[in-house]
Amino acid sequence: MKIKFYIYNLYQKLTEMKLSNFSGIALCLAMISCAGNDLSLESPEKNIRVEFALTAEGEPGYRVVAAGKELIAMSPLGIEASEADLGSGFSIKKVLRNKVDEVWEQPWGENKIVRDRHKEMAVVMENQDGVGLVMRFRAFDDGVGFRYEYETGLDSLTVMAENTGFLFAEDGVSWSIPGNFETYELDTRELPISEVENANTPFTFRVGDVYGSIHEAALYDYPEMNLYRCDSLGFRSELAPRPDGCKARVPGSFKTPWRSIQIAPDAVGLINSSLILNLNEPCAIEDVSWIQPQKYVGVWWGMHLGTHVWTEGDRHGATTENALRHIDFAAANNIEGVLFEGWNKGWETWGGKQHFDYVEPYSDFDIEKIAEYAREKGVSLWMHNETGGSIFEYEAALDTAFARYQELGVHVVKTGYAGGMPGNIRHHSQRAVQHYQKVVEAAAAHQIMIDAHEPIKETGIRRTWPNMMTREGAKGMEWNAWSKGNSSEYLCTIPFVRLLSGPMDYTPGVFDIYYEAADDYDDRAEWNGDYSKCYIKTTLARQIANWVILYSPLQMACDLIENYEGHPAFQFFRDFDADCDWSEALAGEPGDYIVVARRAGDRFFLGAGTNSEQRTVSVPLDFLADGVVYEAAIYGDDPDAPEVRQPDGTVAPDKTAYVITASEVTSADTLDIFMAADGGQAVVFIPKE
Ligand code: NOJ
Ligand code: CA
Repeated sequence: MKIKFYIYNLYQKLTEMKLSNFSGIALCLAMISCAGNDLSLESPEKNIRVEFALTAEGEPGYRVVAAGKELIAMSPLGIEASEADLGSGFSIKKVLRNKVDEVWEQPWGENKIVRDRHKEMAVVMENQDGVGLVMRFRAFDDGVGFRYEYETGLDSLTVMAENTGFLFAEDGVSWSIPGNFETYELDTRELPISEVENANTPFTFRVGDVYGSIHEAALYDYPEMNLYRCDSLGFRSELAPRPDGCKARVPGSFKTPWRSIQIAPDAVGLINSSLILNLNEPCAIEDVSWIQPQKYVGVWWGMHLGTHVWTEGDRHGATTENALRHIDFAAANNIEGVLFEGWNKGWETWGGKQHFDYVEPYSDFDIEKIAEYAREKGVSLWMHNETGGSIFEYEAALDTAFARYQELGVHVVKTGYAGGMPGNIRHHSQRAVQHYQKVVEAAAAHQIMIDAHEPIKETGIRRTWPNMMTREGAKGMEWNAWSKGNSSEYLCTIPFVRLLSGPMDYTPGVFDIYYEAADDYDDRAEWNGDYSKCYIKTTLARQIANWVILYSPLQMACDLIENYEGHPAFQFFRDFDADCDWSEALAGEPGDYIVVARRAGDRFFLGAGTNSEQRTVSVPLDFLADGVVYEAAIYGDDPDAPEVRQPDGTVAPDKTAYVITASEVTSADTLDIFMAADGGQAVVFIPKE
């Protein structure tokens, strides 16, 4: 009865869609009946169902039903390779099922304890060419994942295309960045699904009452996936090409990354899901004791303002004196790490035919002395490796450089790929994915944590390689220094899009909102016409809230340290702990607002942010431990902020105006969070003795 009903639905859908590759309906139905297999998989709570089917030509397809309604209509599956038919002629040999309900722990994360509860269905098939294909599906209560597992008997394959379809059953609204194989540093946009031509992932959407997000998990040795329009309501996967135009070269037996669709009844449910991590393999590093979250400051923002430079000379940022000053500041302010950019030779060549030296410091950066001073002060020293995209040179230097850093006691390296990769290699292509992974593994061998800028997207590999701490992979703070900057709406969108993939090194925390940039720094003129118009597009309180909202186990206070010296609001960062144990997004809508709570040890932190609309959100504090009285320090926007003319000529309430209030609260209380336009609020809750 069940099968019959399913076949009826499938028939209806296929007929409606009139898709040519699903044309042989009659045969298809016969095949399904013959096999006698139930080809559907329900999540443990039965709120999500994924169904598999083969066409008459033996082409696989799937659909997804959520909350009793079709979300993804019957959509094609398959890969094209030059050497074999990987997409058709399949018949089902057997269907294997499994279920998992386990709890696992990670050394760090939004939540250190994670539950993995899902059901699995592996459809084992073979085609006329003897190609074996297992389509493995996992249904969780917060979404589905599926991947291709091929066994061809051939030595290797050239992947020409992947034809995974995501055909929406009805239109909805979506939030994403455009598709791009070189960069993720693009503005997010809100669009009807039907108006999206192409998108990168995570691709977040709301259809009816259901929120969801398409992404991928466990991306190794394969290009990244973008979504390209193929139908009025549908997308197909488009893989980042290799320089020769093909998509990937893979062994004769290979598994693709998981294609994932997170599903939740509300937008914050997407943030609170661990689906991407659950689709990754357990930790591959035996001793993780050296992997530790950190707060950090650095010789950084000044370079983006033009008041400092990366190269040796008058304005050099990474000098011994400045390094020691930053180490002192970190030690005095409960900050674990200090980053130095521009410490190593080669910056003069950046942007041209660059050659960076990853070991040799500039002559005014006494690395031995600095490392020793940092050790004495108990501060973690970070090295920065900008490659400008020169991945082959970097690969050749990796082991020597990392061995040297290990000798110096360095446990964190920030990498960067600001520049084109050689030979037309795209930043998100298979070769680049291999490179980024090579760096992670070389780093692990030398007990080094990685913070990657211009990275490949996060796909949850931090579970397997927890030294892959954080990455950029979106427009970060730097854009505020030399472009029109990141709007508060953007900052309310990325928690529901980019950050679903994992941590982001946004580098929040500029207090000097209307900063003074170097007036002879004309780099920005190229970007924006007039750099003097640049400023931070949020209030100061929101900058503080972003430390909580924009999760990163390596969390930076990015402003010039002199702007924090003696600033009352910097107490928040002193009290903050990047080593979070538990998190929950409490309320929010993409592009509108967001409220997040986290716990680290016995302290709780709350971060809230709004878009250009002033709003007040009431939040029950029932996440606090019962029976404990907390001292809450509230860093909020000043409701009486005076109007000021901002650098771009607009008049608005002074974004630097804030108020700090203290009160005693318990889990029985409710907090009314006032947020000015472009504002926010941050709260630290410390248990009273
Ligand atoms: C871009 C990175 O995002 C930024 O953090 C860094 O300072 C520059 N590249 C130079 O490496
Ligand atoms: Ca960048």
